[in-house]
This record gives sequence, C-alpha cells and structure tokens, in this order.
Amino acid sequence: MDSFAGKLAVVTGGGSGMGRELVRQLAAQGCSVATCDLNADAVAVTAATAWAAAPPDVQVTSFACDVSDEAQVLRFRDALIDKHATDHVDLVFNNAGIGGGESFVTSRREVWERTFAVDWLGVYYCTRAFLPLLIASSEGVLVNTSSVNGFFATLGPGMPNTAYSTAKFAVRGFSEALIEDLRANAPNVRVAVVMPGHVGTDIVVNSLRARGLPEPEQMSDAQIEELIPPDVRAKLIGAGIVAEGASADDLRRLIVQGNADFRDKAPLSAAEAATIILDGVRSGAWRILVGEDAKSLDAAVRADPDDAYDWAKLVKKMTEAADATPE
Ligand SMILES: NC(=O)c1ccc[n+]([C@@H]2O[C@H](COP(=O)([O-])OP(=O)(O)OC[C@H]3O[C@@H](n4cnc5c(N)ncnc54)[C@H](O)[C@@H]3O)[C@@H](O)[C@H]2O)c1
Repeated sequence: MDSFAGKLAVVTGGGSGMGRELVRQLAAQGCSVATCDLNADAVAVTAATAWAAAPPDVQVTSFACDVSDEAQVLRFRDALIDKHATDHVDLVFNNAGIGGGESFVTSRREVWERTFAVDWLGVYYCTRAFLPLLIASSEGVLVNTSSVNGFFATLGPGMPNTAYSTAKFAVRGFSEALIEDLRANAPNVRVAVVMPGHVGTDIVVNSLRARGLPEPEQMSDAQIEELIPPDVRAKLIGAGIVAEGASADDLRRLIVQGNADFRDKAPLSAAEAATIILDGVRSGAWRILVGEDAKSLDAAVRADPDDAYDWAKLVKKMTEAADATPE
C-alpha cells in the first residue's frame, strides 16, 4: 500500500494518544476514517479537528463504542457502513487498550477481567466484525496493537502486569496466526502487529476512567485506598516515592503526577509513534516495533530467552543491543 489517499480506515480508541494521532495523520494523508471510543466526547473532538484539517473528499466520523461489548462493536460497524455509504473498509487499526489488573494474586478479579476483555476481546470482536469488510476491499490491512508486553510479560522488578501481558500476548499470537490464514484464505488482506515501547500518552488516567473511576482529584478515600493498597503504599514509602504518613491527597497528587510523567517523560510522543506505525503499514511490515526501547528489549529477549526474566542479564543485553544500533 503506497498511499492511504482515497482509502477508508477504522480506528478504535481514537479519543486519545496513538489512536487520536493515527486518525489525524490518516485524514491529513487523504484517508477517510471512522473512529470509535468509550469516551464519546473525546473521539468527537478527534474527528472534528482531523476532518477540519483534511483535504476535500475526506470524511472523518466518530462513534461511541465499548470494543469489549460485541453488540456495540456490531452497531459501530453498521453505523459506519451507513455513514460512509460503503461496502468495504481498507484498514482496521485495533488500537483501543487499557492497563489494570497488574497482579493475578492481589488485583481485584473484575479489574483483571475488564483489562483482559478490552485488550483481547476488543481486538477479537472488532476483527470478527470487520474482517469481511477488509476482504471486500481490493487491498485490506488489519493492524493490531499489542505491546512490548506481547513478548515480555512484566513492567520491571516488582512490577507485574499480568492481565495486560496475557491479553497482549494473545493479540500478538492471534496476529501471527492470521498471517498464514489470510495468505491461504483471504490473500488480499494482510495483518500487522504493532509493539510499542513507552509512548507518551494519558493511558494511566484513561485506564482508570475506563474502569468507571472519576478523575484522580475526585476519587474518594476508599477508591484511593483500593488503587494504592497498604502493601503498595509501603513499597512506595520504602522507595522514597511517598513520605511516611502520606495522606489520601498526597496519593491523589501522586496519580496525577504519575500520569503526567508517563506522558511527558516518554522517549516518543503519540504523534511520533503514529508516524512509525503508518510508515510500517505502508512498507508492508508485519511486525512494527515502536521505539528504540522496544527494539532493544526485543533484541535482548530474542538473544537469550532463558535469561529474559533475570534483570541484571537482561539490562546488560539491552545496553549491548542499544550500543550496537547504528545512529
Ligand atoms: N502508551 C504506551 O506506552 C503503550 C505501550 C505499548 C502499547 N500501548 C497500546 O497502545 C494502544 C493505545 O494506547 P495509548 O497509550 O494511546 O492510550 P490512550 O489511553 O491515550 O488511548 C486509548 C484510547 O482507547 C480508549 N478506550 C479504552 N477502553 C476502550 C473500550 N473498551 N472501547 C473503546 N475505546 C476504549 C480510551 O478511552 C482512549 O481514548 C493501547 O492498545 C495500548 O495498550 C501503549
């Protein structure tokens, strides 16, 4: 696919971060987009700004949809077919995702299952719904966003990420499994799997919002206590991140600051990440690593899988991989 001009793309999770930037960049390149999000207001803003800046003949529409609910996904599909007066779509970006359910041992089961449902079932339901429309295109591309947690299942020492990693491994496995299936049974469609490292977005607070929690400033003491339970608080105190005797307000500020740091101190912005994803899709790549951190982690894990969860050895291998990368 040399160009996105004149195509129609579906982007899930277009209300923020990489999804919002994918919508903007696709529209700017002449591609019509139908985008959805749990957050109807945010995705409407994305669509309106992307459409206003797009060339003539481009149409950008937004829809409210929870991708973990199959009935809503089917309504989204039917509504976009109607609005775009189309019988096919050319690109589907399964981008929507949330974090949560970090520990299988201590996290609440509902939170674990919600994260798994959004991050895996969202991709599954959307692929079920949209694959026939990709097959109806002359050249269809399915782009599934996994993560570095799709090949490496933790965030670091003492930082499990079990629901997210399980879902993101599933997204990668599903995508890789589809390569041969599509070649054999739908050769005009191909699949790409996106594995970003750290990208600066508001995913920390958006994930809390997607769980039905209010903004951190409005959270009750009980909600703060559930998010940062005593054992986690003790670890934060031990690491010098919060002071002994920190109040609920201190912890509210910590969440706000944690989100800002995640967004603002990332090695890549959401716009840069979207450009890498779109360049990868245009190039025909099936495997799109986003960011130097993703590339060095991938190289280290592949070089010696047995040592992947030995921190000292892994960090040494990542440093060697980064040093070996040409400028
Ligand atoms: N930011 C990172 O460092 C990073 C790294 C690796 C992978 N990812 C993945 O990239 C994708 C985009 O993440 P982002 O960082 O841009 O996050 P983001 O929070 O900025 O954007 C995600 C969007 O998805 C929406 N969303 C959440 N649940 C939804 C649901 N059930 N139905 C519909 N929309 C829903 C959110 O409202 C939000 O607008 C996700 O799949 C995420 O897991 C992100």
